[in-house]
Amino acid sequence: MMQSIQANSYPIHFNEKGYEALNLYLKENKYSNLFIIVDSNTNEFCLPNFLPYLETDLTIEIIEFDAGEENKNIETCVQIWNVLTELGADRKTLVINLGGGVVTDLGGFVASTFKRGVDFIHVPTTLLSMVDASVGGKNGVDLGNLKNQIGVINVPIMVLIDTQYLETVPQNEMRSGLAEMLKHGLIYDKKYWEQFLDLKALDFADFDSLIYRSVEIKNEIVLQDPTEKNIRKALNFGHTLGHAIESYFLENENKTTLLHGEAIAVGMILESFISLDKKLINKEEYSEIKTCVKSIYDDILFEEKDIQPILELLIHDKKNEYGNIQFALIEGIGKIKINQSVENELILKAFEDYKS
Ligand SMILES: NC(=O)c1ccc[n+]([C@@H]2O[C@H](COP(=O)([O-])OP(=O)(O)OC[C@H]3O[C@@H](n4cnc5c(N)ncnc54)[C@H](O)[C@@H]3O)[C@@H](O)[C@H]2O)c1
Ligand SMILES: [Zn+2]
Repeated sequence: MMQSIQANSYPIHFNEKGYEALNLYLKENKYSNLFIIVDSNTNEFCLPNFLPYLETDLTIEIIEFDAGEENKNIETCVQIWNVLTELGADRKTLVINLGGGVVTDLGGFVASTFKRGVDFIHVPTTLLSMVDASVGGKNGVDLGNLKNQIGVINVPIMVLIDTQYLETVPQNEMRSGLAEMLKHGLIYDKKYWEQFLDLKALDFADFDSLIYRSVEIKNEIVLQDPTEKNIRKALNFGHTLGHAIESYFLENENKTTLLHGEAIAVGMILESFISLDKKLINKEEYSEIKTCVKSIYDDILFEEKDIQPILELLIHDKKNEYGNIQFALIEGIGKIKINQSVENELILKAFEDYKS
C-alpha cells in the first residue's frame, strides 16, 4: 500500500486508497452535483472503470470533448462552461477531471474560472499526467499554437492516481511520460535515475513505485517554490530546447509529429551536452545519459536547415524573462543549476553532437 503524498494543501492518493478517500470526502462535504470531464478516449477506456468506485447520491453528469492537444483551447472551455450552466452547475458543484494532461489542464482551468472557481479533483489517466501534469497546480489552455498561454495556478481538492488506467495507454504515450520520470532522476535523485539504466529489467510491477517516487520528486520541488521563482525552474530541464523542437516539428507538415516526451528526450541530451561543455558534468555522466536516452527513444533526424528556425522558436519560449534565454542545466546527475545563459554556438555544437 502506497502512502498518500501531501502537497501544499491537497493530498495525492494512490490506487484503491484514492477511491476510499474520495468517497469519504463526498460523504463529509456537501456538494450540489458532480460533473466528470473526460475526453473521447477516457470516456471509453477509463470512465467505465471509474464509475463503479463512486459511492454517492449526487447527480452525476458526464462532459466529453474530443481527445487531442488541438482541443485544449478556449473554445472547448466555452462549450463546457455552457453545458455546466445548462445542467445547473452552481458554486457547490464538484468537477472531476478524468484523463490525461489535456483533460486535467483544461478541466482544472474550466473549474477554476466557472463562477469564480468551483472545487475540482484530478484523476490522471496517462503516465505523463500522473507524474507531471496533475501535480503542481498549473492549469490552462493553448492560445493558437502558443502552448499554455492562458491559465491559472490553482490547486485541486485531491489527486487520485490509479495506475490501472495505464493498461490501455498506447506504448508511445507511455514512453512520452517516461521522459519526465528520467528528468526527475537527472535533476533531483541520482539513485532514482540509475533505476532506469537497465529499463529492460523493469516490468509493470516495478512501475508503481517508480511513479510514486516521481510524484514525490515533482511535489517536493513544487512545495519549495510553487510560483517558479527559482528551484521549480529545474523542471524545465530538457524543455528549453525540447519545447522549441516540439513546436518546430508541429508546425512543419513534412516532419513527423513528436510527442512531448519524445521532444523532451532530445532536449535532455542536448542540454546535458551543454552541461558537459560548461564542465558541470563529466564525460562519463554525459555518455551515460546519452546512451540511456537513445536506447529508449528513436533518433530524430535534424537537417541543416532545421536548426535556425528552432533557435528562433527558443526566443518565443514563455519562460524567457527580459528577452534572455535561460537554461536549467544539470550539475552532476541529480543536481540542478538554474538561470544559465547559453550562447548560440554552443547550442549548434550540441545539435552536432546529438547527430553523431
Ligand atoms: N499542468 C502541468 O504542470 C503540466 C505538466 C506537463 C504537461 N502538461 C500538459 O499535459 C498535456 C499532455 O498530457 P498527456 O500526455 O497526458 O496528453 P493527453 O491528455 O492528450 O493524452 C494522450 C492521449 O492518450 C489518451 N488517453 C488518456 N488516458 C488514456 C487511457 N487510460 N487509455 C487510453 N488512452 C488514454 C488521450 O485521449 C490522448 O489521446 C499537454 O497539454 C501539456 O501541456 C501540463
Ligand atoms: Zn514536460
